[in-house]
Amino acid sequence: MSKTALFPGSFDPITNGHLDLLERATKLFDKVIITVAVNNRKDSVFTGSERVHLIEKCLGEKSWKSQIEVEKFSGLLIDYAKKRDVNVLLRGVRQISDFEYEFRMALTNRRLAPDIDTIFLMPDEQLTFISASIVKEIAYWGGDLSSFVPPIVADALIEKFRHKREQE
Ligand code: PNS
Repeated sequence: MSKTALFPGSFDPITNGHLDLLERATKLFDKVIITVAVNNRKDSVFTGSERVHLIEKCLGEKSWKSQIEVEKFSGLLIDYAKKRDVNVLLRGVRQISDFEYEFRMALTNRRLAPDIDTIFLMPDEQLTFISASIVKEIAYWGGDLSSFVPPIVADALIEKFRHKREQE
């Protein structure tokens, strides 16, 4: 039986932490669908299409790339999971501070769709402090992003924040 998981998130932008989780997930699942949340009532730096494009670029050379699909979605995650006939949601937990939010979200999703379960994976401990918001903060102030995101993402962030700063 082929097993598929949804890996939902904002991915604004994808980080080395996400990529580490994805690689781990490809060892556990035949297929992982990265579901990029758009219209998520959150201000994002990159549009949905830009986020998908960056993810696809980052997957470029990975040996496990063929196991990954990247999609945008808006609406309730469990509706998208049902539409794709997937009953596993995959999320990363980096530290205790993630737990409360993840616990609430997993139990809410379970209440809405009892047949869909959430599985948590931990990234490499060297990456546990990386978050998209920290990455954006560093990018805003022109810091070194090389250990946080792949070069293609760093370039896109630098370009984005250069425009932002020019507008301010
Ligand atoms: O990367 P993020 O921002 O932590 O991802 C959060 C995401 C996109 C997974 C979550 O906000 C989500 O599932 N949004 C879709 C709307 C939904 O289904 N909400 C109910 C779950 S509480």
